[in-house]
Amino acid sequence: MGTYSIAVLPGDGIGPEVVEQAVRVLQSVGKRFGHTFHLTPALVGGAAIEAEGEAISDATMELCHKSDAILFGAVGGLPSFQGPNSKKQPESALFRLRKELELYANLRPVRPFKTLLDASTIKREVLEGTDLLVVRELTGGLYFGKPSEIRETEHGAEAIDTLIYTEAEIARIVRTACELARTRQKKVTSVDKANVLSSSRLWRRVADQVAREFPDITLEHQLVDSCSMQLIRAPRQFDVVVTENMFGDILTDEASMLAGSLGMLPSASLGTRRTAHGLFGLYEPIHGTAPDITGQNKANPIAAILSVALLLRYSLGLHEEADVIEATVERVIAQGYRTLDLREEGKTILGTKEMGNVIAEAIEK
Ligand code: IPM
Ligand code: MG
Repeated sequence: MGTYSIAVLPGDGIGPEVVEQAVRVLQSVGKRFGHTFHLTPALVGGAAIEAEGEAISDATMELCHKSDAILFGAVGGLPSFQGPNSKKQPESALFRLRKELELYANLRPVRPFKTLLDASTIKREVLEGTDLLVVRELTGGLYFGKPSEIRETEHGAEAIDTLIYTEAEIARIVRTACELARTRQKKVTSVDKANVLSSSRLWRRVADQVAREFPDITLEHQLVDSCSMQLIRAPRQFDVVVTENMFGDILTDEASMLAGSLGMLPSASLGTRRTAHGLFGLYEPIHGTAPDITGQNKANPIAAILSVALLLRYSLGLHEEADVIEATVERVIAQGYRTLDLREEGKTILGTKEMGNVIAEAIEK
């Protein structure tokens, strides 16, 4: 029995709806296993800009620093904060959290549930046996490189973004990938665009150097365009995929379709800081705010619920509890319960709240 502190940042759009169900499941785990979770909510994203004048306040950053882990919903996608005149971007909350908390390793596991193989747009024969983990570099590359701006010139406007990586940044993320591969099938696919980009050529060189520290690991390289094709052609070939920030962002939305829906994929963002129980981290579904279905009880809360499982496993060291959540989600799906994104002939369609309820109640039993 333990006591843990978790910062809860629901954010915008469907964020609050899915996080509410994730919290409900966390509380069910607390009940069943006798743990106490101290949950402190705070605003982020557009909600925080409206109420507090910035996407994430210093007080919220401080709360996150002091917590054992962060449960995050989604930010951005709000029409009121888009466009050329919008100075405050909801997304900047996420970037500040990732950067200041040094959460450089973003783990996005993709393991389609057997009972959902027919929910995917990809053929069952292609999907069967897929079990991969994308390790996305999260605090470098195009997301943080300076300059990044639109500027006026004599010949009209121009825009620049900067893709920069240091050797040290590449080495630590490839090392993380190799360490994770050791607990899996011992294969790492490093994804880059080394036929075009200098940053990718350095990436490839450093990946090869790091791999020498791991003689038990097989390292291969793929170009990102080819990898995006291989992911849906033959996903079983992958074990751990390691890649830079933006390639990882794009490839994981694609990979989510292997699991049936964007609403199924959880993620863990980790650094090196340890708490009394495990690695400090931020946990969030990979999906966004989905403004088109916000407030309609339609969103799939499973990505957020599976993010709680990752939180328990990595930050709190509660492995059995994490396994119980994952097994329960799989069982509930096997029983025929689905949210709208996974609509299939003859299945029971549930709303966000009802899906959360079914999973939470099954855990308490
Ligand atoms: C993600 C999201 C974010 C990202 C957005 C909301 C800025 O797409 O976590 O994958 O690009 O990192
Ligand atoms: Mg994304």
